Amino acid sequence: MKLGIVTDSHLGPGGTRVGAWHSDYYMSDTVPAFRYALEACAEEGVDGVVLLGDISNSGGDWSVEKGVRLAAQTGLPVWVVSGNHDCFKRVEAVRDAVRRVGASNVRLAMPEGRMVGEVRGAGVSITMDDAWVSRADGRPEVSLWGDELVVWLTHYPLISFDETTREAGLLYGDELADREEVLQPLSERTAPTVVVSGHVHLRVDSVAGPVLQLACAALVEPPFEISFLEVERVNGRATVRVENAALVPSLTVRTPTFAPSKREWIYDEEKWQTGG
Ligand SMILES: [Fe+2]
Repeated sequence: MKLGIVTDSHLGPGGTRVGAWHSDYYMSDTVPAFRYALEACAEEGVDGVVLLGDISNSGGDWSVEKGVRLAAQTGLPVWVVSGNHDCFKRVEAVRDAVRRVGASNVRLAMPEGRMVGEVRGAGVSITMDDAWVSRADGRPEVSLWGDELVVWLTHYPLISFDETTREAGLLYGDELADREEVLQPLSERTAPTVVVSGHVHLRVDSVAGPVLQLACAALVEPPFEISFLEVERVNGRATVRVENAALVPSLTVRTPTFAPSKREWIYDEEKWQTGG
């Protein structure tokens, strides 16, 4: 299964700078960048597109729906989870946009997941309960999964890399308040889970037991990239290949990344190892 991961597009109406994280955001560029990212996914021949949240910068209906509608127009299967920015106006903004668009190829990722070939795709959106938490129904349904290879889609990382980030002088931000409760059942499996996250706008790989987390960089700021994720399971051995594609040359901007742009991970004998 090959997925095109598009995260933290922070879409907004054109015109002005309205935000900053590692860099400033200029909203005039976000929709063209998003269209280009989707075109790149189609050209790569992916089996599906994943929107990992912060589709919108403000959480306004216009921008959330714009993202969902453009993704639907690819005709590819699309899985969506919400990010904190998507929920700034209403926590259900992404769910409602998916309903309004009404495209049969777009769905919210759910904790029980569904099989796509040899791989189960699952995930969770967030809500607000004093802090950002996964939805009440957001615990991984590991009892349904057996020894399947699972790809878990989440805006917030589950394995913290707060320390690495802060040591490098970069911003990390908040954690999902129930991060450990979501991670624990995944850590207790012997079968592999690949967690794919956004939010921090940094490319970082982390391993915790049978969980491999691939934190993806953002579309809205350097390195302006999308990620192609290829996962397969053959005779109990799982292989994950990741390739990141920057939408603009990154020679002139600082690129906050902690993992190479192309790498392979193999899960064999209950251990993740990088093949480089
Ligand atoms: Fe973001």
